[in-house]
Amino acid sequence: MENNTKKNTFSSQFGFVMAAAGSAVGVGNLWRFPYLAAKDGGGLFLVVYLALVVTFGFTLLVSDIAIGRKTKKSAIYAYAEMSEKWKFLGVATFLVPVLIMTYYAVIGGWITKYLTVYLTGEVQAAAEDGYFTSFITSPVSSVIFALFFMGLTALIVYHGVEKGIEKVSKFIMPMLLVMVVGIAVFSLTLSNTDAAGVTRNGIQGLKFYLMPSLEGVTVQRFLQILLDAMSQLFFSLSVSMGIMITYGSYVKPEVNLNKSVNQIEFFDTGVAFLSGMMIIPAVYVFSGTDGMSAGPSLMFVSLPKVFHAMGNAGILVGMLFFLTAAFATLTSCISVLESIVANCMALFHASRKKVTLVLTAIYMAISAVIALGYSVFYMEVNLPNGTVGQLLDIMDYISNSVMMPFIAFFSCILIGWIIGPKWISDEMESSGHVFKRKKLYNVMIKYIAPVLMLILAVDCKMKLNT
Ligand code: PHE
Repeated sequence: MENNTKKNTFSSQFGFVMAAAGSAVGVGNLWRFPYLAAKDGGGLFLVVYLALVVTFGFTLLVSDIAIGRKTKKSAIYAYAEMSEKWKFLGVATFLVPVLIMTYYAVIGGWITKYLTVYLTGEVQAAAEDGYFTSFITSPVSSVIFALFFMGLTALIVYHGVEKGIEKVSKFIMPMLLVMVVGIAVFSLTLSNTDAAGVTRNGIQGLKFYLMPSLEGVTVQRFLQILLDAMSQLFFSLSVSMGIMITYGSYVKPEVNLNKSVNQIEFFDTGVAFLSGMMIIPAVYVFSGTDGMSAGPSLMFVSLPKVFHAMGNAGILVGMLFFLTAAFATLTSCISVLESIVANCMALFHASRKKVTLVLTAIYMAISAVIALGYSVFYMEVNLPNGTVGQLLDIMDYISNSVMMPFIAFFSCILIGWIIGPKWISDEMESSGHVFKRKKLYNVMIKYIAPVLMLILAVDCKMKLNT
């Protein structure tokens, strides 16, 4: 085991930041952030989110990465090293990617399917009502794409930290950034007159996105915006699920973690913001505010209609958009599989190659089952948040809405009150750099973050009862 962990390191700070940003930037940035911003008063949501990034997100990200680098272990053994009694929290943390992995490759498969649609120029077909539904309910094609995506992810993880994950992330992430900026700028140049004779342009769409709308904001509504922003932040930064602990364990001792954390947050938040800029004005121009839907339907139903309405340019823009989305999802999927592989290598004292192969076989089978959750294994389950879900939504609900807030809360208690924040801040300074936001970190981890987590948990419970 010692040998295995020693061989696994990122070669440079840049490599680490790109891999971590690769994990953080995913469908959360592309389909959840823009929707929430549109729903929660535009600029108001952006300001709240930004304030949380530099306080709350910063605290959770610092904690995960520092735990990883200090212990040089993945979640299960990292928590055991912090306190033998708290090993249970490491096990719970390990279970989050175990659950996420069951469905992430399925979503990756959907995106790959749409990429092939635009590569073959079927813009019109993709814009038709029912196209997405007929694809996910087809028992063959949805499974094939999920298996392909799972296989691609596994191939990269199989090649290891430096030659697999780091190499791919260093190539993909800068390209992703260029494409997001390009599409966002293009979005602002759009203009369209609808059947009723109303003309809307991209700049008006941008205003809709950026202007803080304070209309009808009550204390309760503000609290809701705060909670939306907070749960989005968790998911978006890939914190409290052991992934950043695993990646942190691969960082060399001389790397300045303060700088790395800032860069990861900047990258993740920047791409989220730019995603809003590419999606909201485009949807606004062609569909008004009605097209702003949440989750998969934004990406697979509303946007294909927008691309179709763009005419020929839509083929290229659609292709670039789904390529961006595929890149974002691939690097996130890699991080999920990697953290399971790392934990299993330590648990079973086995080699990376062996563990990766076994896990790939298992997850290919599970991904197929989840993909078939819209056809052969279709079911309707009422989830506590009031939505009706299939297999994929159930896995997503348990991992993100139930387990992550629970893990974050107890991690704050463990660090803030049992082993003490100094354990973390020492690691932040171990490379000889100053931990500038040490005081903020201490206050956040001991008092504010646990209270915020409790509010989030109570809110979930209230939704459960209503
Ligand atoms: N952080 C990713 C996003 O914003 C989501 C993700 C969750 C990635 C869990 C990996 C693991 O979309």
